[in-house]
Amino acid sequence: MTGQYAEAHRCSLADPEGFWGQAAQAIDWQQRWERVLDDTNPPFYLWFRGGKLNTCWNALDRHVANGRGDQAALIYDSPVAGEIRTFSYRELRDRVALLAGVLRGLGVAKGDRVLIYMPMVPEAVMAMLACARLGAIHSVVFGGFAAPELATRIDDAKPKVILSASCGIEVQRVIAYKPLLDRAIELAQAKPESCVILQRPMAAAALIAGRDYDWQTLMARASPADCVTVDATDPLYILYTSGTTGIPKGIVRDNGGHAVALYWSMANIYGLKPGEVFWTASDVGWVVGHSYIVYAPLIYGCTSLLYEGKPVGTPDAGAFWRVIAQHGVAVLFTAPTAFRAIKREDPEGELIRRYDLGKFRALFLAGERADPPTVEWAERQLAVPVIDHWWQTETGWPITANCIGLEKLPVKYGSSTKPVPGWDLRVLATDGHELKRGEIGALCLKLPLPPGALPTLWHADDRFVSSYLEEYPGYYQTADAGFIDEDGYVFVMTRTDDIINVAGHRLSTGGIEEVLAAHPDVAECAVIGVADALKGQVPMGFLVLKAGAARPAAQVAEEAVRLVRERIGPVASFKTAMVVQRLPKTRSGKILRGTMRRIADGEAYKMPATIDDPAILGEIAETLKGAGYAKPAG
Ligand code: COA
Ligand code: AMP
Repeated sequence: MTGQYAEAHRCSLADPEGFWGQAAQAIDWQQRWERVLDDTNPPFYLWFRGGKLNTCWNALDRHVANGRGDQAALIYDSPVAGEIRTFSYRELRDRVALLAGVLRGLGVAKGDRVLIYMPMVPEAVMAMLACARLGAIHSVVFGGFAAPELATRIDDAKPKVILSASCGIEVQRVIAYKPLLDRAIELAQAKPESCVILQRPMAAAALIAGRDYDWQTLMARASPADCVTVDATDPLYILYTSGTTGIPKGIVRDNGGHAVALYWSMANIYGLKPGEVFWTASDVGWVVGHSYIVYAPLIYGCTSLLYEGKPVGTPDAGAFWRVIAQHGVAVLFTAPTAFRAIKREDPEGELIRRYDLGKFRALFLAGERADPPTVEWAERQLAVPVIDHWWQTETGWPITANCIGLEKLPVKYGSSTKPVPGWDLRVLATDGHELKRGEIGALCLKLPLPPGALPTLWHADDRFVSSYLEEYPGYYQTADAGFIDEDGYVFVMTRTDDIINVAGHRLSTGGIEEVLAAHPDVAECAVIGVADALKGQVPMGFLVLKAGAARPAAQVAEEAVRLVRERIGPVASFKTAMVVQRLPKTRSGKILRGTMRRIADGEAYKMPATIDDPAILGEIAETLKGAGYAKPAG
């Protein structure tokens, strides 16, 4: 098998049309494409132009037609709701067809947007697939976002219908979703025509007559809808992700390239076979959930596991092993933060040994850099390959990985291994020239990107170009920095913009600053991401008050924390705001966030040559020390 990876990667770049045209045979097409890759309008590339298909058909109906009707498609395991339910491919197809009938009854047709704001229940998966069935474009918003964030997404996507639920469950707490939804619709300019609400037994939601409908009532009355044929290049979904401002970017995913890439990834990256159980412990609100809870496992004919719980506390740090053993999981994919949480509570892995993990073959980690101690701990405890792989909402599937389905390469700690076939990764200097092996620079992907990657941003072609393609002409800029070593292994080190990664969730410090700046007593502010043993990073805010501020400093800090929770949501994990006299700046007025971060993390730092007033750094260090930070690393 040696050399399989290198050969596949070489072929994918030398002959992308041949490579992906071959991979596309695995998908059911209503009409074959005219061109595998249409490159006539760079930097906008189209995969499988002229091809027609339906993604829901590929995820459900074709498996029923091909004899998988009785196989489990989805296992819902919820320690927080005390429920386990299994849906066969036939059952899931039938429910999705009915829900599509509900949406059709509410006027939803091909190209309409449907927003989904739901907890991790099977109906969330059904909602996504029902949209795909009609050719409607779904936009899922993560439940941990607050009403104003939801409103921003409603205004951008302009959904005809919103699908939601009465509540989510966070370990012991029931979080009412409906008041958040009502508030978001109040704030939004673009009002949906209807909302369909799944009433969960833990909390009933009040419905607004004429706008809101009860999910089950509509399902009982609906008739099933068939799959609507769409173009390969039609959008399947929009997924909003943090940009460098408070305005999120609407990442668009097409139907054809997406289905082809995800199918290919299941065999070649994850090494799975149809019929096996694949568990992605994430949330359907993130790209990882879109790709690897919903679309890839189903398109490939696996059984997907939907887990509504946490790695710890539901009920203990053995929860993951219980699920793996009980459902015969072959491959688990989650974020390193989940393993740090487990390791903290069960450092010796005693709970692991209570379960039979006989079918478990591999662990994949992504969402943030997999720190070597966590990888080594997981390898030791589980005795299976532990694979760090790197990707982004934009790319939709992994850019670098150890493609164990092709060939398992030796692991290098701290590296997410090598570029996956389809991705032409280069390390560029700021002037655009390619750097040598071992030199750190901007990680960029030579265009065209492979199928499955974003074709553009929703109704924002210009922003797509200016955000990703302008700085390095001919390349997509990942906004991650890193290097490629002598052996071709990729090391992703840090973001080059203001994005931070909190428990595998992507947040913009600029977005948090916008919220803090709105406080009436705040003159200016800065937010940095500081190291956190569990979550990787957490945001920390520095506030400079206006002269004659109406409130005392402690109160402003407290209100600032509350404001971020109300405007962005609990997912921001924003718990620390400090009032300081001044912020360190360069002579041209740029806030020295990087230096502040190094001080907070106890790292050595150089006094920036361009600093306006060096004394301020000392003041900042004192404030941080007073709050228990700025301790020497190690
Ligand atoms: N709805 C409402 N609130 C939510 C939510 C949701 N869907 N998801 C998270 N929250 C809330 C949490 O309750 C928490 O609130 P709190 O500040 O009142 O405690 C806050 O948002 C932060 O959540 P989270 O970052 O998940 O932290 P946690 O302390 O609850 O759990 C981990 C820590 C490590 C256990 C958790 O982050 C985890 O399981 N991570 C797995 C990795 C993952 O899913 N990554 C996604 C990308 S692959
Ligand atoms: P998201 O779009 O939320 O998936 O976040 C993408 C960002 O998370 C990337 O740009 C990286 O900064 C970071 N990231 C994801 N996976 C990894 C990884 N395996 N190693 C390092 N960083 C990662």
